[in-house]
Amino acid sequence: MTERTLVLVKPDGVSRGLVGEVISRIERKGLKLVALELRTVDRELAVQHYAEHDGKSFFGDLLEFITSGPLVAAVVEGPRAIAAFRQLAGGTDPVEKAAPGSIRGDFALETQFNLVHGSDSAESAAREIKLWFPEL
Ligand code: CMP
Repeated sequence: MTERTLVLVKPDGVSRGLVGEVISRIERKGLKLVALELRTVDRELAVQHYAEHDGKSFFGDLLEFITSGPLVAAVVEGPRAIAAFRQLAGGTDPVEKAAPGSIRGDFALETQFNLVHGSDSAESAAREIKLWFPEL
């Protein structure tokens, strides 16, 4: 089934020059870019995007980090795109959960600075795409 998912290359990925690497892996997997934008997000968008983490110990640091500089937001489409990108990304903890060969497994060390975000379900994807790309 064709799906769409929201992908972010977070500020650490942009500042480390890994945008091309991430986009390349998405394209080589066979997924398609439907929207792509470099932008610096304000606190309001960050709070809405990460609403489910409100109240967690790392929430403040997460907001500060995600608003700290430009990120790349993309909508990615393809068969089982949500699971396919999560496979490319690897688990949230880049050392304990992300396998070598995944984006986080290959390039990240810390959970907060895990380079990329991908929607975790069809419901999240619909909500996040509407939030980031209302024109779609
Ligand atoms: P992401 O997939 O964007 O979803 C929530 C983000 O919160 C996650 O990636 C991490 O960047 C961050 N995060 C999750 N758990 C922790 C944690 N224990 N400590 C710091 N940051 C976390």
